[in-house]
Amino acid sequence: MNGYSRRDFVKSGGALLALSSLPLSMVELAFGKGDAQRFTFAYISDSHITQIKGREFVRNWDRGLIRAVTEANLLDPRPDFFFYGGDIAQLGKRAEIDHGLDILSALRGQTHYVIGEHDYYLDLGDYWRKQLGPDHYSFDHKGVHFVVLNSILTYDHWTHDRWGSGEERMQQMARLDNPQGSPFMVGEAQRKWLQQDLSKVSRDTPLVVFSHSPLQKIYKGWNFWTDDAEQVQALLEPFAKVTVLYGHVHQIQTNQIGNISFHAAMATAWPWPYPATYRQQASYLPKLTVNMNRADPFFERDATGWQFIDLHSGLANVHYTLPGNRNRVVAFDEKLGHPADLRYRLAANREPSQTHY
Ligand SMILES: [Fe+2]
Ligand SMILES: [Fe+2]
Repeated sequence: MNGYSRRDFVKSGGALLALSSLPLSMVELAFGKGDAQRFTFAYISDSHITQIKGREFVRNWDRGLIRAVTEANLLDPRPDFFFYGGDIAQLGKRAEIDHGLDILSALRGQTHYVIGEHDYYLDLGDYWRKQLGPDHYSFDHKGVHFVVLNSILTYDHWTHDRWGSGEERMQQMARLDNPQGSPFMVGEAQRKWLQQDLSKVSRDTPLVVFSHSPLQKIYKGWNFWTDDAEQVQALLEPFAKVTVLYGHVHQIQTNQIGNISFHAAMATAWPWPYPATYRQQASYLPKLTVNMNRADPFFERDATGWQFIDLHSGLANVHYTLPGNRNRVVAFDEKLGHPADLRYRLAANREPSQTHY
């Protein structure tokens, strides 16, 4: 483990595992040699705060986010910053965004955000941007270049010409398996911006890209998909160490495409099933996905959870911690050249994922 001793890793991992029930992701970066480049950040995602009426909100979703924020503030070592992976709101309402941000304001440190489709399609992100600033940006932290993209845009004609109201548009985009829906994309303007942004970054600088939808194609029917994923990947291709972290899918996903490692975050609200369990076709998941048993639909936090991610030298070791389920570890395997599940890598060793939903 370059620049990062196994003892330290186990020590800090142990401290985090003690908080094993919190639905957030802990990301540890340890690039370069020595402690100067080492730091952590926490990742919370997909809270889907849902207004019932007035000040009344769906309690389970509130509680998922409150718990994540509370426990994130207890993390030791303290994370350098927090990241929120999108879908604060369920239907993009101001009351939902306000309520979610009110809960998130208790985080003791800087928080960066990426926009989700549930935050966007009511007013095309106006209120979100008013509260949080631009929906695509980059920043540098301790030698790592971070990029945030709005990956949930779609065709102009779908966005502007088809719907009588923002509410109707939001309802359409909020549904899975909706033939009236439209695929997500980063879009040409942002890809140009990304190209420009990356032109200032040296090729050996570790790159971490945050998007809401996966910047890879998994399952179009649920928009586990970004239409111009390959074009975005091509812009990331020249860099030696690239990690893409995303929300939206509410489940464990891991993949490697060329030089890019992909890792999904679990939600604080609810788990989506694996597309393969729905379609009964394995090809709907990245081949490196670790199956996760969801045997207890009566447990409100079933298959929600958090990740501890050690990205030393740009290679990710991901510790998935699930309340009520056995933990999973997906570690970058130097020999294979991609992340691999040490314990459940062989399909025969895996617990079957649910066959109903
Ligand atoms: Fe979501
Ligand atoms: Fe989403």
